[in-house]
Amino acid sequence: MTDVASLGSEPGDDRPVLTNRQGHPVYDNQNQRTVGARGPATLENYQFLEKISHFDRERVPERVVHARGATAFGYFEAYGKWGDEPVSRYTRAKLFQEAGKRTPVALRFSTVIGGRDSAETARDPRGFAIKFYTEDGNWDLVGNNLAVFFIRDAIKFPDVIHSLKPDPVTFRQEPNRIFDFMSQTPETMHMLVNVFSPRGIPADYRHQQGFGVNTYKWVNRSGDTVLVKYHWIPKQGVRSMTGADAAAVQADDLGHATRDLHEAIDRGEYPEWELVVQMMSDDDHPELDFDPLDDTKVWPENDFPPKPVGRIVLDQNVSNNFAENEQIAFGTGVLVDGLDFSDDKMLVGRTFSYSDTQRHRVGPNYLQLPVNQAKGTKVRTNQRDGQMTYYVDGAGENPHVNYEPSITGGLHEGQYPTHDDQGPEIRGRVTRKRIPRVNDYKQAGQRYLLMEEWERDDLVHNFVDQLSQCVRPVQERMVWHFLLVEDDLGLRVGKGLGISPEDVAHLEPLNGQDLTDEDKQRL
Ligand code: HEM
Repeated sequence: MTDVASLGSEPGDDRPVLTNRQGHPVYDNQNQRTVGARGPATLENYQFLEKISHFDRERVPERVVHARGATAFGYFEAYGKWGDEPVSRYTRAKLFQEAGKRTPVALRFSTVIGGRDSAETARDPRGFAIKFYTEDGNWDLVGNNLAVFFIRDAIKFPDVIHSLKPDPVTFRQEPNRIFDFMSQTPETMHMLVNVFSPRGIPADYRHQQGFGVNTYKWVNRSGDTVLVKYHWIPKQGVRSMTGADAAAVQADDLGHATRDLHEAIDRGEYPEWELVVQMMSDDDHPELDFDPLDDTKVWPENDFPPKPVGRIVLDQNVSNNFAENEQIAFGTGVLVDGLDFSDDKMLVGRTFSYSDTQRHRVGPNYLQLPVNQAKGTKVRTNQRDGQMTYYVDGAGENPHVNYEPSITGGLHEGQYPTHDDQGPEIRGRVTRKRIPRVNDYKQAGQRYLLMEEWERDDLVHNFVDQLSQCVRPVQERMVWHFLLVEDDLGLRVGKGLGISPEDVAHLEPLNGQDLTDEDKQRL
């Protein structure tokens, strides 16, 4: 094989030589081919046309949400047990079983609403998406830093995101559009109390928590299931910014969080998070005042104590931002044996959405890209072709056989798992109904009361600032909700807006709204 890298070098110059994508050495990268030094360009100008047309296609569509982000690599290390209790009692997932076992990971942090080059100081939830390259194939856990979410049914996702994204006419994020939607959607209160507190602007990616948010299941060797929630606790501690802190940082740097992560890893200060899980038995828990499948709720830690199961360490930066941060693709459907979905109505919608958008955003063969490929196991499918096919998946003995079943050497099905039947039996009629026990205000109020004084002040300040840019009916409805969340919050935001409890007393509960007895007493 000719090493084009050496062709055309001056004697003694051992730097590699530039080539085009066909491997042809490039001896002039400054001038295109023209007829004479001042004459017209020629169409057979292959080198120039290839260079420009590739440049024209350098961008793929950015993510519809979470466009701005930063990825780093590292490992997950399992503890194998907590106290005397082996993790195998609850899950057979191999990555958790042995103490000290390491699984390579990629972690992408992100903001949600802004575009790919937007400010990382935005008041916005932060994404916390992890890809575990396990021996059973990939597992993705795609979460955020705030433990809960705005809505509980995936059918509302395009609406909540549209309200938060720029106005389609002015292309400005408009508080009136945001709170117009939120004021009609009481389940958003818990998330709003988080997003508009200092937690809504983490100091950087290293000093934030991560949460799986949705409810998943663990499955053991006997097919027994438990409901689980995942939490990541940063060893670095949690730090947040007020709006004023953020403005000062943003004046200097739009990408301070990406820079902080990159520089810390370069310095050898590897950020670390501990994974703790909360568990409950796999049933609907009528004794609770919330539904365990509702992602607008947290599970009280006293009743469901978090159990440490491992830690994650990030010790390597990306070597190319586009290949490893832009093209990385996570999804909630990407689970391994021993982990499963729950019937959380957000989770099912998310599971369709991620791979659907990635086939559009990155292309139908996005799983062939190195950062997305399973690494701990060999991929062998009969899926073929499509745009940008990079290789043929590991075929069986006979490369002619890209179908199954076959007796002539194709791939065959694996061993049937011992317990394919799992979890409780589900019965019901097909319907469109919200879950019972929505209880939209109580946990939002508890969160408010748990805040430190300065956090409450900041929250009230931020709500008043945003709501003062909204029309009066939206302001009144928000004050009405806040009075139901916690009197003090409603009174303080109301005062800032010049709206008293008497001003909102005429408001009726929203159409179809379920209020608890406690809520009714507050009205
Ligand atoms: C990214 C949809 C709810 C966390 C995305 C993307 C879509 C999406 C389409 C872009 C993916 C890509 O282009 O690769 C949805 C839908 C949801 C939902 C339909 C509700 C039904 C949530 C929730 C969380 C979350 C509740 C947090 C727990 C994330 C994260 C990313 C993301 C972290 C960025 C992943 C990355 O870094 O590449 N989501 N999402 N999403 N979503 Fe969601």
